[in-house]
Amino acid sequence: MLSLLLLGLYWNVRRTSRPMPPQLALPQEPPDLVLLITANRQGKLEVCGCPGKRAEDLAKVASLILATKHQLERRGSVVGILEGGDFTGGADVVPPLLKAYQLIGYQGIALSPRDEKRLSVIRTNANGIPLLLPPRDGNFATFRLNGKALNLVVANLGRPPLEDEQYWQRASIYLQGLRQPNTVVAALVYVDRNEVMEIAPRLKGATDILLLDDQLPSASPNAELSPSPAKVSEKIGGVTVIALPQSRAAILSLNLWQGQSDREPFRVEGQWLYASGHPDHDQVKQIVNAYYEKRQKELEREMQELLKIAEKREYLPPEFCGSCHQAQYEQWLSTGHAHAIDTLVKQKRMDKSCLPCHSLEFRMRGVVTVKKNRGVECVDCHVELQDPATARMHGQRPGERPSTKIVNEVTCLRCHDKQNSPNFDLRTYLPKVTH
Ligand code: HEC
Ligand code: HEC
Ligand code: HEC
Ligand code: HEC
Repeated sequence: MLSLLLLGLYWNVRRTSRPMPPQLALPQEPPDLVLLITANRQGKLEVCGCPGKRAEDLAKVASLILATKHQLERRGSVVGILEGGDFTGGADVVPPLLKAYQLIGYQGIALSPRDEKRLSVIRTNANGIPLLLPPRDGNFATFRLNGKALNLVVANLGRPPLEDEQYWQRASIYLQGLRQPNTVVAALVYVDRNEVMEIAPRLKGATDILLLDDQLPSASPNAELSPSPAKVSEKIGGVTVIALPQSRAAILSLNLWQGQSDREPFRVEGQWLYASGHPDHDQVKQIVNAYYEKRQKELEREMQELLKIAEKREYLPPEFCGSCHQAQYEQWLSTGHAHAIDTLVKQKRMDKSCLPCHSLEFRMRGVVTVKKNRGVECVDCHVELQDPATARMHGQRPGERPSTKIVNEVTCLRCHDKQNSPNFDLRTYLPKVTH
């Protein structure tokens, strides 16, 4: 009896316990002030359910932000959360995104010139989170975070016009005005790594830090894909330039320590932290799911429209091939390929960006009419039969061998690319799908 009870307890613990999130790589010496900054979300709440990309989901990034904040605060740091720009996509995604930001506790939202196009919907949904607009008529918006010993001010310079001397004068005077004892001044610029080489020397003495919406000029081309915490600051023309996250899976931790002497009043370090392995934040996940459910209904309406047009285009379903190749058809049914649409249905993502790999019918006709036992189908691999006319003809004459092409790795890699299938290896994958 007791052992049954214990077994029950064990199952309960197993069912409710989640895998441990990865350890956060925080600085050894607790900073006085930390600003956590996200950027470049581009309206994507949940980028893709594919194995390689899940880390980019907003619900995971929310967990990362809150876990980092919590741990830093326990060690005595003052922590702020700021959106660094390029966060919007379509207008419909702005309300749920900002609702999530409010829940996470964002203290400010910097708008890039691109975000500014969505200003009205951002304004009505900001729920009191202060907005930092790009400069207009010489007015600069700022965000302030006060710590115990150090303060930080971030000014949004937008996309500075390189040639406009008046602008530079105004910006310098404005930034100089923010200088105060124990206050670190940072400026956000939406320019690229080449332009920052020109801009940084001009702002020497006016700002301590430039937050750049690009990779650093010295970064390797693949730096954004690096899964390990990366140092992302560099001195250019006397200013510390720090790169904003270039991937939705990363956040920038801007760490500030009080300096040791008057000559070095503070110390700064930038670090990217990655969300991969972190669990979904439950409430943010609910917001995301509600958005996709609504969107799903719109997509279905759109599909009905497309259906009328698409029905005129020909497409041979797998049952057609199966009517002569029963054994291959049954083997195919037992693979994930036969359920690739079910996968999207379960994820509530019958989305134009997902369907081309997950549905042959969508690729051939631009529409999905049947969802069960459909997905990656016969002619996705037997490409020489992709033309329905050819496929109908073959096998009519006894002994005919239509398939001279061997299904090879190139066929698979079209869909099993690095992003969507990071573990792809022909030697282990092919045996699971051959028949
Ligand atoms: C009317 C019956 C019929 C239909 C429908 C049919 N096939 Fe075939 N298929 C055959 C026959 C018969 C052969 C020749 C078999 C042989 O020579 O061993 C063949 C050969 C093949 C081969 C080549 C086998 C080899 O050894 O090279 C492939 C691949 C193939 N079919 C795929 C398909 C696909 C994909 C579809 C659907 C688009 C399809 N078939 C539809 C009858 C059919
Ligand atoms: C048209 C796109 C496409 C092509 C071409 C393709 N796959 Fe896939 N494959 C997918 C998708 C999508 C899934 C995920 C299916 C799911 O579970 O929803 C998948 C899943 C798989 C799986 C895991 C699921 C299972 O059946 O156990 C294997 C193994 C696999 N593919 C092997 C291959 C091999 C080998 C090739 C080349 C011969 C290939 N695939 C070609 C899209 C493709
Ligand atoms: C370039 C082709 C491609 C695109 C585009 C694509 N997928 Fe996939 N997806 C794959 C392949 C290939 C796999 C199989 C990966 C593996 O098992 O190695 C897969 C697997 C998956 C799986 C895991 C299935 C399982 O049960 O293991 C999910 C979920 C998924 N995709 C959802 C999506 C969503 C949602 C989108 C759109 C945002 C999308 N995919 C876009 C190719 C693609
Ligand atoms: C993921 C890729 C893939 C898909 C999807 C696929 N096949 Fe194949 N098929 C193969 C491979 C690999 C072979 C082995 C022969 C080769 O290398 O060309 C093969 C061989 C065959 C052959 C020749 C059989 C033999 O014994 O030589 C037939 C017939 C065939 N497939 C029919 C189908 C039918 C019908 C479907 C859909 C229900 C289908 N295939 C879906 C990859 C695929």
